[in-house]
Amino acid sequence: MTGRDGKLAVVVLISGNGSNLQALINAARHDAPFFIRGVVSNRRNAAGLKRATDADIPTRVIEHTQFADRAAFDKAMAREIDSFAPGLVVLAGFMRILTSDFVNHYAGRMINIHPSLLPAFQGLHTHRRALEAGVDEHGASVHFVTDELDGGPVIAQVRVAVQAGDSESVLAERVLQREHELLPQVVNWFAEGTLQLHGDAVWLHGSPIAAPVQC
Ligand code: GRF
Repeated sequence: MTGRDGKLAVVVLISGNGSNLQALINAARHDAPFFIRGVVSNRRNAAGLKRATDADIPTRVIEHTQFADRAAFDKAMAREIDSFAPGLVVLAGFMRILTSDFVNHYAGRMINIHPSLLPAFQGLHTHRRALEAGVDEHGASVHFVTDELDGGPVIAQVRVAVQAGDSESVLAERVLQREHELLPQVVNWFAEGTLQLHGDAVWLHGSPIAAPVQC
């Protein structure tokens, strides 16, 4: 669970660009209480793999297309993840739905970053849907992962104003910039031991939070 000077070992799961992974890599360089022990991708061509390699972080690719079903893929994933003995698993743009067995195996030690103010806009195309719904405010959330897709207890959020004339990509980019602050913050809390999941309740600094922390 821990390594290098008692720091928390983190494994990051990605499927794509990995800009949130990059934010964690950058944060870990600056005297953070965690380090990234491994990066796992379900896509061989995920650009984030190069970000990891450039930072001397070991990578593994487990292609979901090579498995007969979700359960077999998740088993293979868990085997690779566990070989890194992480204290925390971070889903950072990992685009696969996970089985209950997998989720339960990492209960209380797996978080996900989702580009909406949960519980609003669970699932895909969050920016487009936020624009279509005409909301004034959009953002991103980090939550503990449970069986319910994008439905686990929310830890913290960043909020951005939707501006007149925003396109999907402009809004997505504005949210993404804030994600890069949010995710390292939450990983820091977990690594310091100040963030825990007790039952369904998120505890921060020794007491349950009544609502997601606004960062
Ligand atoms: C982010 O918007 C994240 O919230 C979502 O997928 C995107 C991943 O972006 N889950 P990146 O790969 O970290 O650049």
